[in-house]
This record gives sequence, structure tokens and C-alpha cells, in this order.
Amino acid sequence: MISRILCIGAGYVGGPTMAVIAKHCPTVQVVVADINKERVAAWQSGHPPIFEPGLQEVVRASLGRNLRFTGDVEHEIGEAEMIFVSVNTPTKTFGQGAGRAADLQHWEKTARSILHHAKRPVIVVEKSTLPVRTAEAMERIFKNRRQGQRFEVLSNPEFLAEGTAITDLETPDRVLIGGAETPGGQAAIGELVDIYARWVPRERILTANVWSAELSKLAANAFLAQRVSSINAISAICEQTGADILSVARAIGTDRRIGAQFLKAGVGFGGSCFQKDILNLVYLCEHHGLPEVARYWEAVVSLNQYQKERFVRRMIRVMFNTLAGKRIALLGFAFKANTGDTRESPAIQICQELLAEQAHVCITDPQALEGARNIFGSSSERVTFEPDPYKAAEGAHAVALLTDWAEYRTLDYRRIYDAMERPAFLFDGRNLLDSEELHAIGFNVYAIGRPDRTDL
Ligand code: NAD
Ligand code: UGA
Repeated sequence: MISRILCIGAGYVGGPTMAVIAKHCPTVQVVVADINKERVAAWQSGHPPIFEPGLQEVVRASLGRNLRFTGDVEHEIGEAEMIFVSVNTPTKTFGQGAGRAADLQHWEKTARSILHHAKRPVIVVEKSTLPVRTAEAMERIFKNRRQGQRFEVLSNPEFLAEGTAITDLETPDRVLIGGAETPGGQAAIGELVDIYARWVPRERILTANVWSAELSKLAANAFLAQRVSSINAISAICEQTGADILSVARAIGTDRRIGAQFLKAGVGFGGSCFQKDILNLVYLCEHHGLPEVARYWEAVVSLNQYQKERFVRRMIRVMFNTLAGKRIALLGFAFKANTGDTRESPAIQICQELLAEQAHVCITDPQALEGARNIFGSSSERVTFEPDPYKAAEGAHAVALLTDWAEYRTLDYRRIYDAMERPAFLFDGRNLLDSEELHAIGFNVYAIGRPDRTDL
């Protein structure tokens, strides 16, 4: 029975995942180590460095009991029996495979560090999303082991979504564990199954070989992103033909074979993983001589790009073909509601394009304003940041809703309208608002995949 777990990487995945493991396994010492000292200090003080509903309570429940955050990665490796690797694996920005392949430098540093500092047999668990056959590469690094060292490598990809991380970890649809088909591999799988089985029903813990587990993670994200691009592609047809994407999505989604989830048309998917993982899949396909398969998945990403461009193009067209000097309020900057994460947020590209049109942009967001400032703070005098959505809309020619925060549903839109320039434009990039009501107030309303509501 494992009694000491280390997780390397205290980010969006490492922090929440380990907090939930610590909660359900009070007899297991759980340590999370990271090279980012600020992040470590925030976690250890009980004020997580990321916004995630329910996270603070779960962290505080175990902090000081069996959960600890530290910057001393090397020392902790020497103590651990099971090491989760949850470091970032962004898209490579240089050299071969730039813009597609995963950048594995953090992952490889971690593998080497484990090799140098492990003092006892260790089960190494890939938590980060990695290209297929990465575990094999890790095993090759571990072949250089010293006497007494023993490593088993498992793949245990994480399926949590930001904004719902705690519920996803508490009641996952499934936990997937891949391991070698050897006695050692099967024993390691058994140890990890025993951890999850403390709170996850056994029938939801799936086991597989390592490569199937690695590929399943990339495939799951590709399928989810594909649904978003599919509904967004249909939204473009709706805008041309007068069909309403909400009716179409309902009609499609009531077919049980298709299902209702992930059929919300919008400004495109964002987040740190969908695009990165699909590009990774594309690179894998190319590497294995499957160009047709690569092009198929690549289209999901290019459609996503097109959706963001299309949104801005529509703004320019209906606002009399010029945005120069106009003030535009962006409601929301996070890539989705209930997170402060701005990584790959559609708002970034939309904001860039609006600035290229010489518009003045005022950004508001309940959790992601700091993130927005980090990206645009020094780029142009034409960007401002405003926590209060009413102030953001003051004197604006247009409001563009980019993140589906529930609180944007209940704003006083009459007050917003009264403070705006005429004609007042509202672009609902998430189909969050009641277009008819807004039109009755006086707005010219343009929602994704829906007929225009305008008097112009
Ligand atoms: P993140 O950037 O939030 O966290 C990664 C952490 O690893 C950082 O704090 C960084 O300082 C640390 N780190 C990097 N190199 C290190 C090293 N050598 N030693 C110690 N710490 C190191 O990333 P994330 O969003 O948590 O994602 C981590 C992995 O999980 C990625 O592979 C991602 O694809 C995958 N994933 C993410 C999500 C999500 O919702 N964010 C969901 C499922 C899977
Ligand atoms: C996604 C997956 O849902 C997780 O299972 C996975 O673990 C994670 O990626 C990962 O590997 O990082 P996440 O990116 O946090 O989670 O959030 P999602 O809820 O999947 O949303 C992704 C993007 O798609 C958001 O920008 C969201 O607004 C958009 N989206 C989602 C839509 O535009 N329409 C929808 O119907 C659903």
C-alpha cells in the first residue's frame, strides 16, 4: 500500500488532483512540488494561485494534515513511492515540429531528476498530456538506473475541465490507467487503482496498455473540440440562411446517439489544451505517414480560427465597415466561465483584431482581468481594463460578450444601453442573453448563429 505520493507540477491539474487525493486518502502523505516558488507559497498558505470553484475548501481541509506544497523537488523525489508528473507540455515554438509537436523539455527534465534522486522503487505516473509512446521514452531514460532503483511507468491522463475541476475529480466519468502488460506493470496499476478506489466506483476505473491510455487522452480532447467546431460550422450557415443555431442544436442534441452536450456555438474554443492536443495528434499522424488523418483533425483547429475571425468580420460589417476610434467593451476575457485562465482564450485574438482596426477596447472580467493585463497591458494605449462591467460599457459603441459568466445574464442591460453611444450594438458571442429583450431595449443584437435583431 502506497503511503507517500509526490506530484511534480502544482498547476491547474497537479494542485486540484492532489488535494482531492489527499482528502480521500487521509493516511497517505501527499506532497506537491514545483519550481515556481510563488505558486508554491500561494498553495501552502491556503490561497490557491488559481480560481476554481470549491478548490480552496478542499485544499484547506488537508493542508497541514496530509497535504503539503514545496519548492524542494529533488529532496521530495528521494522520499516518494509514487510520483505523478503534472508539468506543462505546451506546443513547441522552435525547431522541428514547431507549432505542432509537444515541447517535452519540462517533462524530460523531470524524468532525469527522478532518475538522479530516487532512492527506492518508484511508480512514475504520467499525469500530463503527452504524445503517444512518451512513457516508453521515459522508460528508456530510466534504463540508466543505479543499483537498487526500480521504476514502473503508468499513464493516468487527467480529464478534468477547468471551472468544474473539483466535481470532475470527485465524480469522474472514468479514471484511466495504462500500464505495462508485465507482472511489474500490473502490480503498479493495482497500486494506483487502490488509491482511486477510495472514492471512485471500481467499474469506472478503466485499465489499458500505456499507449492506448496516452492516445485516449488526445482522442477525447480531439472529439470534444471537434463537436465545438462542428456546431460552430453550422452556426455560420445559420447566419447566412436565417436558421437559428439554438433550434438546430436542440434538434440535433435530442438524438440520444448524438447527445446534448458540447453543442454550444460560440466564439470558438480556447484553453490550454484543445488546440495543443489536436496539433500534437496532427504531428503524430504526419510522423506515422497518415497525412489524410492529419488533415482531418487539423480542420478542427482551422475552423476554430475561422470562427474567431468571422465574429470580428461581422462586427466590422454591421458597424458601417469601420471600427477606427470606436469604443468596444469586451464582457469576459477568460476562455470559459468559472476560471481566471486566459490561455488561448478566443478573447485574445478578437482583441488583437479589434486593435488592428484601431478600435478602443475596454476589457472587463470577474476573474481574468489580471491575465488580460499581462497580455495587453503594455501593448497599446487603446486597451483599458475595468472590473465594473457598467463602467466598461460607458460611452461604448458596442458591447461584445466573449465569456459565458452567469453574472452577465443578470446585468441591467437598460442601464448599459443608456450609457452607450447610439446606435448601440451588442454582439453575443456565447448566446447567453435574450436577444429579443435586448432588442426591445433598443440594442442592435447580433448573436452567434442567430438572425440579426436590428432596426438599422
Ligand atoms: P500549468 O502550467 O498550470 O502547471 C504546470 C506546473 O509545472 C507549473 O506550475 C510549472 O512551474 C511546473 N513545472 C514545470 N517544470 C517543472 C519541473 N521541472 N519541476 C517542477 N515543476 C515544474 O499546467 P496544467 O494546466 O496543470 O497542465 C499540466 C498538464 O496537464 C499538461 O500536460 C496539460 O495538457 C494537462 N491537462 C491540463 C488540464 C487543464 O485543465 N489545465 C486538464 C487535463 C490535462
Ligand atoms: C477540456 C476537456 O473538457 C477536459 O476533459 C480536458 O481534461 C481538458 O480540456 C484538458 O485536457 O485540458 P477545458 O478546456 O478546461 O477542458 O474546458 P471545456 O469545458 O472543455 O471548454 C473548452 C473550450 O470549449 C472553452 O473555450 C469553452 O467555452 C468551449 N466550448 C465548450 C464551446 O464553445 N461550446 C461548448 O459546447 C463547449
